[in-house]
Amino acid sequence: MKLAGKTALITGGNSGIGLATAKLFKNEGARVAITGRDPTSLEQARQALGEEALSLRSDAGKLEDIEEAMAQIKSRFGHLDILVANAAIAQPAPFNLVSEAQFDETTGINFKGVFFTIQKALPLMREGSSIIVTTSISNQKGAPNFSVYAACKAALRSLVQTLSQELIAQGIRVNAVSPGPTDTPGFGRWGVPQEIVDAAREQFTQKSPLKRFAAPDEIAQAVLFLASADASYIVGHELVVDGGVSLVM
Ligand SMILES: NC(=O)c1ccc[n+]([C@@H]2O[C@H](COP(=O)([O-])OP(=O)(O)OC[C@H]3O[C@@H](n4cnc5c(N)ncnc54)[C@H](OP(=O)(O)O)[C@@H]3O)[C@@H](O)[C@H]2O)c1
Repeated sequence: MKLAGKTALITGGNSGIGLATAKLFKNEGARVAITGRDPTSLEQARQALGEEALSLRSDAGKLEDIEEAMAQIKSRFGHLDILVANAAIAQPAPFNLVSEAQFDETTGINFKGVFFTIQKALPLMREGSSIIVTTSISNQKGAPNFSVYAACKAALRSLVQTLSQELIAQGIRVNAVSPGPTDTPGFGRWGVPQEIVDAAREQFTQKSPLKRFAAPDEIAQAVLFLASADASYIVGHELVVDGGVSLVM
């Protein structure tokens, strides 16, 4: 029970890596709140996480939604020990075809949303708290057709380094988990033809030293490590969990 007595918010906790993290945290003794936009998967997640869990319909790209979610968490839990800023979207497109609307939506959720989620959560966080941001291996080497997504994840890497220095004065550790290809509903939910998704999946599988995708729980285990006292001396680190993919990309 590495998180006994702790309270945690996982944004994008109704699917994929976020849901696996919420389940793992609950099993480790935490009380969890999750956010997402899709009411059906939010309800399914709430049932899976049990009565004590708080499942909030909240758009990470809207400041008023973020503030309302924090108000509800304060009312239910009083404070937060762990924030996992995980919600994100991917809308791949060749650079010259990226529309302003796509740019604004992706940066609004993937960068601005994370920035203000952390800012609005801070008043609830006490000394000894931990923040983990989900980045991506695309932030190190780029990813063709993912220009906006990869740049947002690089911005998050920078933000983690800055905030880890600013917030440690309050006793709050900030770190990142950087997943490689992971088998989630989000991988391939890109609004592109299925054959493109299948080709990307095959390419990643073949290039991967392990010849497979990560399971969401394998990423969640890294998030748990950084959230727990096991990582008490780890500050401003980006933990790559990619089965070695970035070594060969
Ligand atoms: N899967 C991979 O291969 C991979 C690789 C590297 C990094 N990552 C990162 O891992 C994280 C989790 O992704 P995943 O693969 O688990 O994908 P996923 O299954 O699609 O999960 C993404 C989650 O984010 C939520 N979300 C998206 N936009 C949101 C918004 N505006 N407001 C609130 N919630 C929002 C989604 O819920 P709703 O749809 O209900 O809004 C969903 O719960 C992301 O940060 C992603 O960039 C994934």
